[in-house]
Amino acid sequence: MRNQLLLSLVGLWGTAAAARNAKVDPLLQKLHGHASHSARYEAFGEPAIHARSDAGHRFLNSGTSKFAVNGSGLPEVHFDVGESYAGQLPISGKPDERDHLYFWFFPTANEENKDKKEIVIWLNGGPGCSSLLGLMQENGPFVWQPGTSRPVPNPWSWHLLTNVVWIEQPVTVGFSQGNATAKNEDDVAEQFLGFWKNFIDTFSMHGWKVYIGAESYGGYYGPYIGSHMVNTNDTTYNNLGGLLVYDGIMFNDMIQSNVIMEPFVQQHYDHMPLDDSTMQQIHDISQRCGFTDWNKKYLTYPPAGPAPRNPPGVNVLPNGTVETVNECGSLFDMVYAQSLVANPCFNIYNIPDHCPQVFDPLSQTTPYFDRADVKRAINAPLAVNWTQCVDGVFNSSQGDQSAPPGKYELPNVIDKTKNVILAHGAMDFILPLNGVLLGIQNMTWGGKLGFQTAPSDPFYVPLYGFQSQSNAPYYAKGLPAGSGVAGTAHHERGLTLVVTQLAGHEGPGYAPASSFRHLEKLIGRVHSVSDKTPFTLPQLRNITQVAEPLGKGTVQIPCLGRGC
Ligand SMILES: *[C@@H]1O[C@H](CO)[C@@H](O)[C@H](O)[C@H]1NC(C)=O
Ligand SMILES: *[C@@H]1O[C@H](CO)[C@@H](O)[C@H](O)[C@H]1NC(C)=O
Ligand SMILES: *[C@@H]1O[C@H](CO)[C@@H](O)[C@H](O)[C@H]1NC(C)=O
Ligand SMILES: *[C@@H]1O[C@H](CO)[C@@H](O)[C@H](O)[C@H]1NC(C)=O
Ligand SMILES: *[C@@H]1O[C@H](CO)[C@@H](O)[C@H](O)[C@H]1NC(C)=O
Ligand SMILES: *[C@@H]1O[C@H](CO)[C@@H](O)[C@H](O)[C@H]1NC(C)=O
Ligand SMILES: *[C@@H]1O[C@H](CO)[C@@H](O)[C@H](O)[C@H]1NC(C)=O
Ligand SMILES: *[C@@H]1O[C@H](CO)[C@@H](O)[C@H](O)[C@H]1NC(C)=O
Repeated sequence: MRNQLLLSLVGLWGTAAAARNAKVDPLLQKLHGHASHSARYEAFGEPAIHARSDAGHRFLNSGTSKFAVNGSGLPEVHFDVGESYAGQLPISGKPDERDHLYFWFFPTANEENKDKKEIVIWLNGGPGCSSLLGLMQENGPFVWQPGTSRPVPNPWSWHLLTNVVWIEQPVTVGFSQGNATAKNEDDVAEQFLGFWKNFIDTFSMHGWKVYIGAESYGGYYGPYIGSHMVNTNDTTYNNLGGLLVYDGIMFNDMIQSNVIMEPFVQQHYDHMPLDDSTMQQIHDISQRCGFTDWNKKYLTYPPAGPAPRNPPGVNVLPNGTVETVNECGSLFDMVYAQSLVANPCFNIYNIPDHCPQVFDPLSQTTPYFDRADVKRAINAPLAVNWTQCVDGVFNSSQGDQSAPPGKYELPNVIDKTKNVILAHGAMDFILPLNGVLLGIQNMTWGGKLGFQTAPSDPFYVPLYGFQSQSNAPYYAKGLPAGSGVAGTAHHERGLTLVVTQLAGHEGPGYAPASSFRHLEKLIGRVHSVSDKTPFTLPQLRNITQVAEPLGKGTVQIPCLGRGC
């Protein structure tokens, strides 16, 4: 039986390879790194991204020169990253303002789009983590990802589509100096808007369309900042065009973790093979805590109706205090602990990972951004010790006590912009997809509750010339990324949900071509993430796309109750 299966696999492999190469390699040679196989990887080299024909500095003037970064002067980066500006701006107009946010702004390198009056803000989460993580390991002009030896140009950098600024916030995060005075998300948003006015004034972007991309805890930041922006009615500074959130926390945290544990481990048994007794325990806890019934009732399309105020698994005390029942509040932790037994390098952000853990240039004793030469090159304060994440960004003993934005801020941004994308990676364990689906089904926007039909449309990432088994050049050869039908998408009333199957928590890092497509949709270059329109870059525009109908999306969306 086993041998037969192996034979048929070899057979298929051979046929496919023969069709491409007119040469059939024995299986063993492939498994052991046969030359023609590894040659492909050696040939990756540096990606050939189109050079800027405009070497001039569009934003350089007497007001911005103190922020200018020498694109050829970044330590370890052996290529010109182009025009950019970095430094700190205060969070208000007060002349003695001591609190600042640090930014790094890259004008678009796309000649066709350089006159478009639009800018994208990128925010990482935490709370307390630096957005330079995103710049260097997700969607920035150069990337130095874990397990790689040096920075390379990023063919999927968002600045190849439009102007992008990576901002470290709230105050005290990364290079952003000052005192943590924000007590909640409303304060964070007001401080951000104060900074943003100064930024718009500095770079003369009055009236420009502003888009926000945010990740993880950015599921709080993005909607709160966006909602504060639209509520100012001030299109000179806060002309919000849309919001894109990757793997965000936006809803009740019980709902986004413990309640959906059982369907998550069932769906991902291949990567989290928990033994029978653990699976039984998960099942029993889910029953006892009311998670099973809740999922059956509320993970349905159309939604069952507004859910009660409190999630299952909590007790409401006579004085109104909401207390989590022990075994209910710790189900997520139990599954995590068990997964680490099976796989000691189980990655909470990307479940297929395994040992060894790879070198990460941002978590070394001296992380890249904490080097004095790097700080000098990017106008960062030498006196600040840069770390990926800091504690205590909220001036409150209990941390952030803000209500989840799914109640008001997120729907407000959807209703005002009709352009919000919630992107998700199916391989994310820290914020599983099902929690976002449950949250959406209890959110009211556009006058209705939730999605009326279950997501099933294909999420299509355009083909860009990738040729497996070939040494011929193609776009993004240095950093090829998955394309074709990459997941499942759905759109209703200004809200798009798009799930990439082979993506972890940090979407643009794990699936960069997918996120390039999300950005094209966000800024209105394409109409939908489900059609076959090629990428809009001039050099990718003529690439022939698949001829056949796309069929359904490749991520199975769990639907547990009525109407499934
Ligand atoms: C930028 O840095 C490079 C490398 O250190 C140096 O050769 C060049 O002169 C610098 N350019 C400017 C304008 O300072
Ligand atoms: C407040 O900010 C100033 C300037 O960054 C800093 O010197 C001081 O230590 C901060 N105080 C606190 C309590 O963080
Ligand atoms: C908290 O805010 C107060 C002012 O509201 C300030 O005096 C104090 O330094 C802040 N704490 C920290 C840790 O920054
Ligand atoms: C913004 O406009 C809305 C609708 O016209 C109005 O209700 C609101 O008060 C305005 N807000 C501000 C800050 O002007
Ligand atoms: C469901 O939505 C309603 C209406 O916004 C809200 O009051 C309730 O707290 C939500 N339930 C949960 C568990 O998030
Ligand atoms: C409510 O009651 C619980 C249990 O008696 C107690 O621990 C808690 O401090 C009370 N909370 C408030 C806000 O009074
Ligand atoms: C930065 O780190 C150095 C070395 O560990 C330490 O001496 C210094 O006090 C730190 N500076 C700040 C501002 O925390
Ligand atoms: C793409 O096709 C158009 C129309 O056929 C043609 O004018 C253009 O030169 C082509 N561009 C590239 C990069 O091949």
